[in-house]
Amino acid sequence: MDPYDRYELIVNGRTVKTPIAIASMAGIVDSDYVLAREEYVGMAFIGGYSIDEPTINASVLMEEEGRSEFISTDPAADLKAEIEKLAGTDIISGVNLRGSSSESFVLIAEELGDGVIYEIDAHCRQPAMINAGSGEYYLHNPERLAEVVTALKETGVTVSVKIRAGVAADDSALARILWKAGADILHIDLMDFGVSKIRQIRNSCPLFLIANNSVNTFDRMKDLLAHGADMVSLARHSDADTLKALDNAIAAYADETGWYNSPKQLCRGGDLRSLTFCCMPVKQCPLMPALQKIGMSPKDYHDFKVKSVENTPMASGSSTCFGSLAWCCKSSTPCMFRDISIKKEGITLADYMRYKRRLSEKIMDRIFNEERREDIAG
Ligand SMILES: Cc1cc2nc3c(=O)[nH]c(=O)nc-3n(C[C@H](O)[C@H](O)[C@H](O)COP(=O)(O)O)c2cc1C
Ligand code: SF4
Ligand code: SF4
Repeated sequence: MDPYDRYELIVNGRTVKTPIAIASMAGIVDSDYVLAREEYVGMAFIGGYSIDEPTINASVLMEEEGRSEFISTDPAADLKAEIEKLAGTDIISGVNLRGSSSESFVLIAEELGDGVIYEIDAHCRQPAMINAGSGEYYLHNPERLAEVVTALKETGVTVSVKIRAGVAADDSALARILWKAGADILHIDLMDFGVSKIRQIRNSCPLFLIANNSVNTFDRMKDLLAHGADMVSLARHSDADTLKALDNAIAAYADETGWYNSPKQLCRGGDLRSLTFCCMPVKQCPLMPALQKIGMSPKDYHDFKVKSVENTPMASGSSTCFGSLAWCCKSSTPCMFRDISIKKEGITLADYMRYKRRLSEKIMDRIFNEERREDIAG
């Protein structure tokens, strides 16, 4: 199947061929590392690279302490050479950067252009890097991080922020700050927090989310995708065998189900995207508090869903519980009545899930982007 039809993922203006990324490891993940795994990944963040005097000095100290680092006296030139090696591949490339000021990031972006994703490393917890005003320093100083994001965005590039969950005072608040500052991607090392953390962030902002930490089985990958991740990334386990197994498994799952990162039902712990599978608002269940939290009345929710499926096969379904497929459950919940309606419409169960995905995108747009439009309007 064509990769766009399979995943419908576009990042930095290009189709992502598989929702698997290589996460950076300083001193290890460069272009050659990525090229050796090219077949099985859709995205790769090379680095981290230190890009100004304070962070380069920190890297030197870290290397003296026994860590592997990429140390360069001309980071822009070296990064250019690295990126050129990835040109012509179907991998969306990103550079993971440690910098201590907005100006340092902007200078690199002006040199390298908009063909790569700029990932701000707000993740590194080495004391030397934090003392240099980079890495985890940014998680304790979110206003500085937001400044860097906005400055980079003003150069017209795609911006990712790599964070470690549980370090900032409030991960949801941080996600919202970064979204409003203009970030495109949030790349989250979930540490030991599990899927509830990715759901919490999914419910806080509309950013493209890459979930990271100990992704080495398809079960783990699927669980992260079902709780709000758009992609997963691997660092320590990014060997070709693991990447290949995940790529094969997610392709088969996407083709079979029609929606590779479909959420769980809301009452089974799903994130807000799962409103697409929710019933008519007629009973006391987890739907009511969820609507209350997002400030949508049951009537608005009802009318919005009905309007959103007008003139699509989802408007049909007279034999279903609520008279329309708009209110029907996820395909993994067996239901004869839904399946009869789907058949009548001449579509497959996978097509049904693709329509449910469209509906969930409209719901998420209504929840978040209206807020953004209101912000812009002042
Ligand atoms: C040796 C090593 C170096 C790392 N260097 C960086 C880095 O430069 N920038 C960064 O954002 N994360 C860095 N990380 C963090 C990884 O990208 C990743 O978030 C972490 O290892 C957890 O994911 P994993 O379980 O897939 O390895 C590094 C990790 C390791 C093990
Ligand atoms: S509306 Fe239906 S699917 Fe949604 S939480 Fe309630 S019972 Fe579950
Ligand atoms: S008809 Fe079946 S799929 Fe639709 S809401 Fe009722 S139980 Fe769920």
